[in-house]
Amino acid sequence: MALKAVVLGAGKGSRMKAVYPKVLHQVAGRPMIQWVLDAVAPLEPAQTVVVVKPDADRVVARLPEYAAPVVQARRLGTAHALQTALGVVDLEAGDSVLVVPADTPLITVDTLGRMARLHRSTGAAATCVTASMDDPTGYGRVVRDGWGRVKRIVEHADTTTSEREIEEINGGIYMFAGDYIRDALDHVEQNNAQGEYYLPDVVSILGAEGHTICAYRTTAEELAGVNTQDQLARAAAIMRGRINEAWMREGVWMLDPARVYIDAGVELAAGVRLYPGVHLEGNTAVRSGARIGPDVYLDDSEVGEGAKVWYSVIRGASIGRNTEVGPYVSLRPGTELLEDSKAGTFVEVKNSVVGRGAKVPHLSYVGDADIGDEANIGAGAITANYSWFGKHRTRVGRRAQIGSNTVLVAPVEVGDDAYTAAGSAITKNVPEGALGVERSAQREIPDYADHRRAPREAD
Ligand code: UD1
Ligand code: MG
Repeated sequence: MALKAVVLGAGKGSRMKAVYPKVLHQVAGRPMIQWVLDAVAPLEPAQTVVVVKPDADRVVARLPEYAAPVVQARRLGTAHALQTALGVVDLEAGDSVLVVPADTPLITVDTLGRMARLHRSTGAAATCVTASMDDPTGYGRVVRDGWGRVKRIVEHADTTTSEREIEEINGGIYMFAGDYIRDALDHVEQNNAQGEYYLPDVVSILGAEGHTICAYRTTAEELAGVNTQDQLARAAAIMRGRINEAWMREGVWMLDPARVYIDAGVELAAGVRLYPGVHLEGNTAVRSGARIGPDVYLDDSEVGEGAKVWYSVIRGASIGRNTEVGPYVSLRPGTELLEDSKAGTFVEVKNSVVGRGAKVPHLSYVGDADIGDEANIGAGAITANYSWFGKHRTRVGRRAQIGSNTVLVAPVEVGDDAYTAAGSAITKNVPEGALGVERSAQREIPDYADHRRAPREAD
């Protein structure tokens, strides 16, 4: 009485007009096929098989260990895809087969669970998931008999004018009794508008044989199939809405949830405030009381309690407690801003540690550097971290004051409590407490303005 799961992902994806495999298209930071596998996994199938196209290395590489790929060499339709999958499935008496297309990322584990219970309790030979859609164009329609029983499913391309009016659509998700499915698949023919072996035909074949067919009705939203780029965008918007609602229930504040983009896998704490234009991606975590946005892109980064980040791009960085970042800051991988520090306005930091309470306030580039606690990097000061021989580190000591427009030519060290004079190109270490000056003495040319003016007056 085991459950065997089959995910169909070998379709051509031709309506997407994409070079990239359709089932790897992302919805809220996760490939569509991953969403489907995640909804199936809690049902604990004894075996999970994924039907893939030939040369689908990229798809296979993304599959979890428990999912076995099976190649469908010729894409002859969904019935043929299931038949191919069953080639590697051991079906024993009383087993059920769950089939889910990889292009239905909004399906939930709740719906799959309820449908599985309905299927088992009715002893049906086939159970499909259906919904009423305002615009059912493109979907298979569910044809019921006078008693309301599902009789067959007709594909959009094969509908008569009256069938086209049917609003109840087939979600492409089924449970089949393992005892009958192989035989029913053998009876599917390809005499239809697309010349394909349609899996929905199994429903009418089993029904005609006198078996019980069930339909589990759910929302149109859950069954939204992704065949085109605009359907992908709509599915992604719905998924974002779900994610945002879930975070708001956890105590996250959003000024305008429609303009907040949070990927699955991001971690937020209660009391986080998100302004419009915020994108949170990858393994990003934001701690309590942090304020993000407007207009911030954060990827694989961490933001500490009470920090403020606005109008900035942050990748692979860690932002400490009560730190301020922005406006117009780029933090690149390997950057660590310790608590109470500051980066911005117009500042880039890469692979560097900015110490506690240290400040990089204006127009700086800090790369491969260790900035000591409470140091200050003056406006326009930069590290010259690259030479023909590679990258070098810069060390700025605690409480050091780097003058405006200083160039710190790495490898170089400025000691604790040391200074550099504005405009200096520092190529030698500055000892603790010293002032490093590297520039020519200023001289004045008296009456310069008169000299400038003189030739014109002579005309
Ligand atoms: C299918 C259903 C339709 C339903 C809709 C719901 C059929 C014939 N039609 O239509 O009734 O309303 O889903 O979204 O099943 N695939 C393979 N191998 C193939 C063909 C398809 O693995 O040879 C896979 C695709 O990758 C996809 C899934 O099966 O994940 C469904 O195929 P697709 O072409 O998207 O079918 P629809 O036209 O959407
Ligand atoms: Mg589809």
